[in-house]
Amino acid sequence: MDRRTFLKASVLTAGAIAVPAVFFKNGQAMASPEVFDSPLSIPPILPGQVDGDVNVFRLALQHGESEFFRGFKTPTLGINGPFLGPVLRVQKGQRVAIEVNNHLEEPSTLHWHGLKLPGEMDGGPHQVIRPDETWRPEFRIEQAASTQWYHAHAWHRTGDQVYRGLAGLFYIDDEHAGQLGLPNDYGVDDIPLVLQDRSFNKDGSFRYVSGMHQRMAGILGNVLLVNGTVGPYFRATKKRLRFRLLNGSNARIYNLAFHDRRKFHQVATDGGLLENPVELASLRLAPGERAEIIVETLPGEELFLQHHPLSVQSSGMMAMTAGMDADTFDILRISAEHKNEETTPLPGQLATVPRLETGNSVVIRQFYLDTQMMVGSTINGQQMDLARIDHVVPRGTVEIWEFANRSPMPHPMHIHGVQFQILSRNGNPPPVNESGLKDTVLVEADEVVRLVARFDHLADADHPFMFHCHNLEHEDAGMMGQFTVANMALA
Ligand code: C2O
Ligand code: CU
Ligand code: CU
Repeated sequence: MDRRTFLKASVLTAGAIAVPAVFFKNGQAMASPEVFDSPLSIPPILPGQVDGDVNVFRLALQHGESEFFRGFKTPTLGINGPFLGPVLRVQKGQRVAIEVNNHLEEPSTLHWHGLKLPGEMDGGPHQVIRPDETWRPEFRIEQAASTQWYHAHAWHRTGDQVYRGLAGLFYIDDEHAGQLGLPNDYGVDDIPLVLQDRSFNKDGSFRYVSGMHQRMAGILGNVLLVNGTVGPYFRATKKRLRFRLLNGSNARIYNLAFHDRRKFHQVATDGGLLENPVELASLRLAPGERAEIIVETLPGEELFLQHHPLSVQSSGMMAMTAGMDADTFDILRISAEHKNEETTPLPGQLATVPRLETGNSVVIRQFYLDTQMMVGSTINGQQMDLARIDHVVPRGTVEIWEFANRSPMPHPMHIHGVQFQILSRNGNPPPVNESGLKDTVLVEADEVVRLVARFDHLADADHPFMFHCHNLEHEDAGMMGQFTVANMALA
């Protein structure tokens, strides 16, 4: 089948509308580079209003309409706009307050994914914002420069609400990172890329169907959106580009690479800068994860950021089908229209990431991940119960958490309220680009991942922290647990 026949066929089988785009057929992707002609949308940065020593942000959850395809109106949800939200940009050390107004007809929440803050400010499923209500968390930014994000986290509704558009980026800046000479001109050489796959009905509306199969595998779309743009291109006026990548998809896992397999450098993980830039030819990014990469372009060239299939070392066949495409597809066309300027070399050292030290009496908590037909996905044999606290962690302690995946599909596991370090994958040290701070880690089929975290922030039983799979259909189906962090006299 040539490219065009394939595209037509996939339009029919996917029941999608006949527009030029990136289509996936039955979870398999299809790219059509010649139609990457929509300018990449760059989300606005929301200015805060300084009130005393607090930087106040105002967010409105609202309905909107988006034109992803010319002539088709898609009902969407957004924050201060029709789809997705603005970038909140804060400084380390700052006190921030966020007023979240819910103008929807349904309850929602807003969770600050990756932020270290008290449970009460976290925006998990207990901090419901009902229609016409306002929720106003206030907290101090204590962590280093990093690319975080925020999204709806309503119990049983996260997948659906994020799919419709309730998500945005949350940048933290600090003095140290600002002095490294990394590209930092927003939208010019420091570019956010929010990756989300979607399916559409013939009338242009989003197609979000959650049946038995979706609860098992997660929802995979057949059209790729980057910052809400279908078939995007970016005009690069600088040689060196920094992309801040967020996998904001419900279930899809990407293996990012450039079409010519050129090397690039990863400079940051979920929690901020790596110690040193790590040279890579491809980068795996699971739902919830972020990465910052630096790539150099040549004047006049066309460069494609793509997904490249990755063979997973796993016995389970479903490891490939559950979220990872077996075909290459394009994500972003970059057209480099700059002169060949000189660039200074990347700094050899970006930051110091102090190793989290466990004491002698370290607590090791084990989590067994299972997926079974009829039962669904569970952690230690249980599904989420809002009324059940699964673990109580003494505040200030360093613990080892171990996720053992006994299911045939990958689970991106996320912990609220902390930034952790990966100790091992199946007993081996993690790849060096995973040596930084993380809050989400992909646990492959049959894999055991050990990590270490310090639990600094209080969370009581009314506002517990969550730990869960960031495949949002798994999360909504109950692959989630709750823990509190309490002041305790240690024995
Ligand atoms: Cu990004 Cu509990 O979530
Ligand atoms: Cu989170
Ligand atoms: Cu999962």
